[in-house]
Amino acid sequence: MALESRHLLGLEGVSKEDLTLILDTARSFREVLERPIKKVPPLQGKTIVNLFFESSTRTRISFELAERRLSADVVNFAASGSSVSKGETLKDTARNIEAMKIDMVVIRHESAGAPHFLSRVVRANVINAGDGLHEHPTQGLLDMMTLRERHGSLEGMHVCIVGDILHSRVARSNIHGLRTMGADVSVCGPSTLMPARIEDLGVRVYHRLEDVIPSVDALNVLRIQLERQHSGLFPSLREYHRFFGVTKERVDRAPKPITIMHPGPINRDVEISADLADGEHSVILEQVTNGVAVRMAVLYLLGSSN
Ligand code: CP
Repeated sequence: MALESRHLLGLEGVSKEDLTLILDTARSFREVLERPIKKVPPLQGKTIVNLFFESSTRTRISFELAERRLSADVVNFAASGSSVSKGETLKDTARNIEAMKIDMVVIRHESAGAPHFLSRVVRANVINAGDGLHEHPTQGLLDMMTLRERHGSLEGMHVCIVGDILHSRVARSNIHGLRTMGADVSVCGPSTLMPARIEDLGVRVYHRLEDVIPSVDALNVLRIQLERQHSGLFPSLREYHRFFGVTKERVDRAPKPITIMHPGPINRDVEISADLADGEHSVILEQVTNGVAVRMAVLYLLGSSN
């Protein structure tokens, strides 16, 4: 079984068949992660470079773990301390690394479109680990995997993404992936954090949590980007929490239990209350575990296509 594309650049345009293949493959790898010996041989002899031009904890560690679990050789690159600081371009960096005979590149970059550019200038498979405000496809996939585990099927379930939609690549990947899989997707947040014409992506828009909570199966709560706190997009963290904080008190008023998700890193008691993040309906750490399985699936399916 192979994916339609040699690269994973985003979830926009990825078919339901390919999404299902990745999620089903990830389920098998999740089982591998429960074994005493967690290593399997499919990518033995392949070399993968992780190019991280932006900071990351979860994505960087889980890609590296996934690569090592599949027996690949792994090289890590961080922009700081590299020749990027001497002015070397992304194209030259990538071509020089490829000259060392690598097979796959995982890239996180602050500029939207950097992975797409890379896929045109190198022969290796390219995987987007987050590009600017555009997409974070493996986060979208691990979120879908976690929802599938909890709810059985994504078809017809209502998922609301809450918070800073404007600056969120996680929101975009979730919207594309979930909609393709037949879920009903909405977004909720202040109008200053809502992209223009977001409805064109097929989502409903809410500006009050009280209006959406009664009908949701899952809330995916986004990080409030503290670095944007002084940009005038909302008056204060306290005010944000008062109107858009996902709290136990708010969620307990719902007619049915709501699955609570967050891509991390969390600002406790800002966008989500600490008791809810650690509560019985939170799947935040399952998302992290599934991140390794989903990344193993993507690496395996793309690596097998060479
Ligand atoms: N969810 C996520 O992308 O986290 P990191 O920025 O730590 O990789």
